[in-house]
Amino acid sequence: MTDRIVLAYSGGLDTSVAIGWIADATGAEVIAVAVDVGQGGEDLEVIRQRALDCGAVEAYVADARDEFANEYCMPALKANALYHDKYPLVSALSRPVIVKHIAAAAKQFGADTMAHGCTGKGNDQVRFEVGITSIAPDLKCIAPVRDLALTRDKAIDYAEKHNLPIATTKKNPFSIDQNVWGRAVETGFLEDIWNAPTKDVYDYTDDPAFPPVPDEVLITFEKGIPVAIDGEKVTPLQAIEIMNQRAGAHGIGRIDIVEDRLVGIKSREIYEAPGAIALIEAHKELENVTLEREQARYKRRITDEWTELVYDGMWSSPLKDSLEAFIEDTQRYVSGEIRMQLHGGKAIVDGRKSDTGLYDFNLATYDEGDTFDQSAARGFIEIYGLAAKQAAARQARLGY
Ligand code: ARG
Repeated sequence: MTDRIVLAYSGGLDTSVAIGWIADATGAEVIAVAVDVGQGGEDLEVIRQRALDCGAVEAYVADARDEFANEYCMPALKANALYHDKYPLVSALSRPVIVKHIAAAAKQFGADTMAHGCTGKGNDQVRFEVGITSIAPDLKCIAPVRDLALTRDKAIDYAEKHNLPIATTKKNPFSIDQNVWGRAVETGFLEDIWNAPTKDVYDYTDDPAFPPVPDEVLITFEKGIPVAIDGEKVTPLQAIEIMNQRAGAHGIGRIDIVEDRLVGIKSREIYEAPGAIALIEAHKELENVTLEREQARYKRRITDEWTELVYDGMWSSPLKDSLEAFIEDTQRYVSGEIRMQLHGGKAIVDGRKSDTGLYDFNLATYDEGDTFDQSAARGFIEIYGLAAKQAAARQARLGY
């Protein structure tokens, strides 16, 4: 029987050419796998047909939008995951769900190898290949751009020579990856890190310098998950989509950073994640109301670990699972409502409500009704500051 290879297929030029390129180079049959993670654009059926027209023997398509929102974006929201304190892991989150469908397709169609369109310089090759190792350890991996010298120019020549049903003329200078959690744009003139992004770089957000009138939004959370917006029940996917629209209209979630890739390269990336950034902001503030102080402090450390593991391609790893169990436990009381103003590139919380919170008006107030015993503070400070006081006295005595 001819060998079979499952290819992570986007429907674009490179992976369309990769179908025939891999078949020519290896003699194997290629099965295209396209996964909808909310990247927008073309219908899955159109993509399926294109894969077949480009020579795939089978095409597997999956609408994974809800799965992606529920099982990948929501854990990231509960963690408040921001790599370098800014990047909400957009691409890093989508790879594991794509990997899951690649493994399923490989099983269904009897393939022993998977292929992806990543270069040898980025994080995504690692996420795909380490991801596959963890859930389908027998699948081999091949990357035509990295391993079979499939350059962009060769892809254009190949598509023209073989009359593939894919546009080769409109050469976008950028490398773009997008899904419902956000959008990543790199390469082209952005590689000069002094160059500011031009307007055409952006798609999910409008210019924050020309905002419409402020938009007030009420987000209801239950155990860390957004369940209603302005009182209307929503699924996680709908919550993200609605917030992408509403926060995007105010230019919220534009990020321009030089980040540390796992492979050691510093790279410049422009991100747009209006929904993710607004939801994380709201979720963080609800945690301020509901998490106990030490638990909140510890959670920030766990979040950093979780975020870095996911960025580094370790979605399926025992440590990530254990950290996630901790994060999940912290969300027990993260329920309530957050009011935000969306305006001028910012999502600003200006009201919060929770029946499961720890905010106690009578403890906090400086007015009538104060129940806090202020006389206890003196003794607390004396003991709390004792070690520092002793050390300061020593320094005064010895002079160094
Ligand atoms: N730097 C981001 C990451 O590693 C995004 C990678 C894909 N970016 C792109 N523009 N194609 O998660």
